[in-house]
Amino acid sequence: MLDVYKNYINGDFISSDSKRTFASINPSKNKAIGYFQESNKKDLDNAVKSAWKGYKLWSNIPAPKRGEFLLNIAKLLRENKERLSKIVTIEMGKVISEARGDVQEAIDVFEYMAGEGRRLFGVTTPSELREKFCMTTRRPIGITALITPWNFPIAIPSWKISASLICGNSIILKPSSDTPLCAYELIKILDEAGLPNGVVNFITGKGEEIGNEIIKNKNISAISFTGSRDVGKYILKNSPINKIGLEMGGKNPIIIMDDASLDLALDGVIWGAFGTTGQRCTAASRVIVHKDIKKEFEDKLVKRTKKLILGDGLKENTDVGPLIAERAVSKVDFYVNSGKKEGAQLLCGGKRANGPGFFYEPTIFTNVKKEMKIAQEEIFGPVIGLITAKDIDEAIEICNNIEYGLSSSIYTENIKNAFKAIEKIEAGLTYVNSSTIGSEVHLPFGGVKGTGNGTREGGLLGIDEFSEVKTVYIDYSGKLQKAQIDIIK
Ligand code: UN1
Repeated sequence: MLDVYKNYINGDFISSDSKRTFASINPSKNKAIGYFQESNKKDLDNAVKSAWKGYKLWSNIPAPKRGEFLLNIAKLLRENKERLSKIVTIEMGKVISEARGDVQEAIDVFEYMAGEGRRLFGVTTPSELREKFCMTTRRPIGITALITPWNFPIAIPSWKISASLICGNSIILKPSSDTPLCAYELIKILDEAGLPNGVVNFITGKGEEIGNEIIKNKNISAISFTGSRDVGKYILKNSPINKIGLEMGGKNPIIIMDDASLDLALDGVIWGAFGTTGQRCTAASRVIVHKDIKKEFEDKLVKRTKKLILGDGLKENTDVGPLIAERAVSKVDFYVNSGKKEGAQLLCGGKRANGPGFFYEPTIFTNVKKEMKIAQEEIFGPVIGLITAKDIDEAIEICNNIEYGLSSSIYTENIKNAFKAIEKIEAGLTYVNSSTIGSEVHLPFGGVKGTGNGTREGGLLGIDEFSEVKTVYIDYSGKLQKAQIDIIK
């Protein structure tokens, strides 16, 4: 008998009013691992009530003290790192070394944001009038709803939770229905860390049902969403909430110039394209390669790719785990067929691999044209397309010929090429001689163009998403002074 896991509202683990549950599946085995609540509007109303109470308490705790709770969370995560990593692999499928990275990123961000409790800086600046003082302070926003994806099932909820908490907000977390167990385990740690009741609430269920209720709930002050473009756009269109942070994926390029160290570039492409089975918003999916090295690079890449070991991520020698679900296999298949139809040349992979789980062979296309579907749309699987460019300018033009703008990378030993790429590529992140993945929590993470709406997570800018700035003027002159009108001599 599998366990049934509950929602977490006002410090209690409770069942949904709906009396319905859904299964979470181990994608390596296509087997259920537990059941979760299919929450409804009544559950959300309870969570909102609880979060409002939590907000009153939490926002009244000084930020440095809130930071102590965050440090405690980091400590508990560290103590549970190996156990949590295994759960990530079992529920999401990523290989165990990457699962450890997922948990480590959560530890890092809680530690980083804990320190932010002693900063949360505003600015002071002179007034144009005498005996008047100007400054900004940061204020919490209220109840924040965090809608999180399955591909970093511990790290991404932790980015959002840590930043929201340190700013003094309360939280309703609605994780992806593909990884509710990871989120549940994270919530158990928050519970153990002794946060006051109501500060963090957790409800599971379908996006179409409970997700829809969340985005329409006027008592919620901010939404932070990471996930697909379609859902992100839907939220923006249908939510009455003003403060919405969105991260909606990428179609991330790696440029490989003729002066690049090819072995280094190969490592970067393999890691960026097939790490996490290509299921990262930052995964490399377009390789823009200089025409003079195309053939050599292609041959080496195919040889290396064919050696990758597919399998259950719990085995330490596995390189590539499964896709998240059957629907992901169909989606990847759809794009592979589309690539073939549009005239791209398949070099390896291109089909489902054996297993009860959702395995797909690492796939490489060459002679891809920049306007093809496989070069334009996010596949979110182990598929890359090689596009040829004659020089750096054409390579950058191909990079930018896309609606997305999350991550990007260039391999070159030439400083001019590197700086051109840094300056001209339209993306939130550009890596030089390093793959498109591997952001660190103390730097901002987010995208431009169709990837987002300007918000960043991580680093100092991550605080902006979860706080409001108040501008304060203090006039101690004892008389009416009029800015812009009184002329000071
Ligand atoms: C994502 O791609 O969905 O930069 C998030 C990275 C990780 C986070 C990725 N730190 O690859």
